[in-house]
Amino acid sequence: MKETLAYYICSMNKEIVVSGIRSTGYLHLGNYFGAIQNYVLMQENYECYFFVADYHALTTHPDPKLLKANVYRVVAENIASGLDPNKVALYAQSDIPEIPELYLMLNMLAYKGELEKVPTFKEKVRSQPDNVNAGLLTYPVLMAADILIQRAVKVPVGKDQEQHLEMARNFANRFNTRYGQEFFPEPQVFRFNQSAVKIMSLDGNGKMSKSENVNATIYLSDDDDTIRKKIMKAKTDSGPTEHNSVMPDYIQNLFLLMDLTAKPGIADTFRSQFNNCTIRFGDMKKQLAEDMVAFVRPIREHAANLQADETAIKKILKDGAEKARAGASKTIEGARKLIGINYY
Ligand code: ADP
Ligand code: TRP
Repeated sequence: MKETLAYYICSMNKEIVVSGIRSTGYLHLGNYFGAIQNYVLMQENYECYFFVADYHALTTHPDPKLLKANVYRVVAENIASGLDPNKVALYAQSDIPEIPELYLMLNMLAYKGELEKVPTFKEKVRSQPDNVNAGLLTYPVLMAADILIQRAVKVPVGKDQEQHLEMARNFANRFNTRYGQEFFPEPQVFRFNQSAVKIMSLDGNGKMSKSENVNATIYLSDDDDTIRKKIMKAKTDSGPTEHNSVMPDYIQNLFLLMDLTAKPGIADTFRSQFNNCTIRFGDMKKQLAEDMVAFVRPIREHAANLQADETAIKKILKDGAEKARAGASKTIEGARKLIGINYY
């Protein structure tokens, strides 16, 4: 209770930030550098609402036995990565009943045609043709509800989510126009450094992700030897034959990972070797493997300790939901009134 009060006092007048991560599996370096690292930076200066998007995860019908463990793991790995539940509201989407209520309202303002055109939906239709459910179609509406329920103005997400954000702005504007008031602000994508970090899969095929390219994705829960094995197997080639050659994207990705995890200067040494054609990728990967092991180990160990303490995780989720519901209930009350749902 004390923390909640402290949270309210220091969050007064700060810009509101919302972001979510789906509980669809193990978090990886892409989630860390693309999302969580931004969350950790933002917690000092913004009023932050970070949540586990467990309803969004239902679109792919997860095994009920795994769902809870997945939610707990996302919470533990976020905290182990530096998020402080005393500074932010950290909660499960399904603990905020105002979200599905706003989702229902916004669904009346979302059109089948525009939803069918969303690239992430089209991609799911291709990849899971046997399960094209309405939840997939309305995924951007639920995401808009997550954001608008807190009347957030900044949303730290990767490049792949920009279109969803644009839809959230459209729904906000449509609501405002229909009900004649600037009720919802327009949420904007937010990043500390302008260029979005995108971590590719180590086999060079697509991005690191929770469920694809598992052997070429480094998870925050991977043990030391698994990390070493994955890095040593990363795609390379026989090396450049001309000075200052253009780097293939899978080599650029290894350099990016080195920039993000090694001591300053190390990546530059290998970069000069690349530029004068003396680089040995085996040596570079050995160095990267050790830096990556040292980077992931403390996060993995901290997360494992937290996950072992279910009572602590439950308390974090409960406190987070309490903080998130304070603003959410005000928003839903206002939205109901504007729509005309105020009978008593
Ligand atoms: P996943 O695609 O692994 O299931 P989510 O869709 O839950 O991950 O994404 C959570 C956050 O992590 C989003 O902000 C997303 O942009 C970011 N993210 C996911 N994968 C990557 C990646 N490979 N590189 C950079 N950011 C990523
Ligand atoms: N769709 C996001 C993703 O796949 C997760 C998400 C759900 C989210 N609701 C959100 C992100 C609200 C930011 C804000 O990464």
